[in-house]
Amino acid sequence: MTENSIVPSGAGQPTAKPRVAVLFGGRSSEHAVSCVTAAGVLDAIDRDKYDVVPIGIARNGQWSIVSEDPHAWSLRATSLPEVLPGKEAVVIAARDAGQELVAHAPGEEPRSLGAVDVVLPLLHGPFGEDGTLQGMLEMADIRYVGAGVLASAVGMDKHYMKVVFEAAGLTVGPYEVITDRQWQRDPEAALTRAAALELPLFVKPARAGSSMGITRVTDPAQLPAAIEAARAHDPKVVVEAGITGREIEVAVLQGRGFAEPRTSQPGEIAVQPGAHQWYDFEAKYVDGAAAQLSCPADLPAEAIDEVRSLAARAFDAVGAEGLSRVDFFYTPDGALIVNEINTMPGFTPVSMYPQMWAKSGMPYTELIDELIQLALERPTGLR
Ligand SMILES: Nc1ncnc2c1ncn2[C@@H]1O[C@H](COP(=O)(O)OP(=O)(O)O)[C@@H](O)[C@H]1O
Ligand SMILES: [Mg+2]
Repeated sequence: MTENSIVPSGAGQPTAKPRVAVLFGGRSSEHAVSCVTAAGVLDAIDRDKYDVVPIGIARNGQWSIVSEDPHAWSLRATSLPEVLPGKEAVVIAARDAGQELVAHAPGEEPRSLGAVDVVLPLLHGPFGEDGTLQGMLEMADIRYVGAGVLASAVGMDKHYMKVVFEAAGLTVGPYEVITDRQWQRDPEAALTRAAALELPLFVKPARAGSSMGITRVTDPAQLPAAIEAARAHDPKVVVEAGITGREIEVAVLQGRGFAEPRTSQPGEIAVQPGAHQWYDFEAKYVDGAAAQLSCPADLPAEAIDEVRSLAARAFDAVGAEGLSRVDFFYTPDGALIVNEINTMPGFTPVSMYPQMWAKSGMPYTELIDELIQLALERPTGLR
């Protein structure tokens, strides 16, 4: 579809099918990953049930109507997909009669692109997965898929996520936080705190994803450079003691109505020994053979029950809605340590979250449908 083929339906006029704004790209370093997710969703979403409006967010933050051809956004051998700013900027405006998409071109009158019933934000990282977009959508009183403002913000922040998990009785590994102020004021004190953790260390930007900005440190002399590498993504840094354990993940889906969260069969990510020592960016996206994903993970029955129940607890602890993937380390002595929650996990058809649901009986197209239905069923505002 081109820009011109969108038929304005008029704000608030009920459309036959719910009109879904699929939002992707964005301002974070995970821009390209978000585009690849959009390729999968645009390909699989049930068009007999939904009208789809693809909205790309360029790196400068501009929204525009973009191609709905999945091939425009899929991963190519030579280049990463990218949303470029369009001629017209698009905004979502709240009106008495409902929510409306409005296009603005310089020097021209704003133009209505019709009503929108629900937003499907396929955005990873800051300014998309961290509550900022969710706040904007709340302001416009529009329904959207996934976690709300607080849960998104907590789930994005590897520091506060641990604070919340600990308060809910979940086990997290040893860690230290280095804020920008602490680092600027007294880097030696920060280094001393970090170096007291057991090696190897994982030095991470507090609010990033896709393993970007993370360094595995085996010698304290590498710490300053690792901290600076993390700070290139976020002025707040989290330093963690390395955990020895298998990486086990669970996909969580909000229950319908007032039901408990649903959990998938657990999956496992096994990084093949060799080029990658941990699940870094290359192992995730570039080197297809680097990591083996399996579901269900080969675990004792009690561990499966436990990890699923811990994942549901983690989901509720941050107050998540819609979907989340909860990632654990399963240690050789059988402990389950929470690594993180992702409120907008990788969502291509081959990503862990959809794969775990497919293996648990819910194929990709049905999963997308279920997420949109959950968003349509949920009231806007405080809940
Ligand atoms: N404390 C840790 N101990 C062992 N491995 C870790 C630790 N933290 C991260 N890793 C490795 O780094 C990967 C990425 O870290 P993670 O915290 O999940 O960041 P991201 O949000 O970028 O996915 C993990 O999947 C795991 O392989
Ligand atoms: Mg991770």
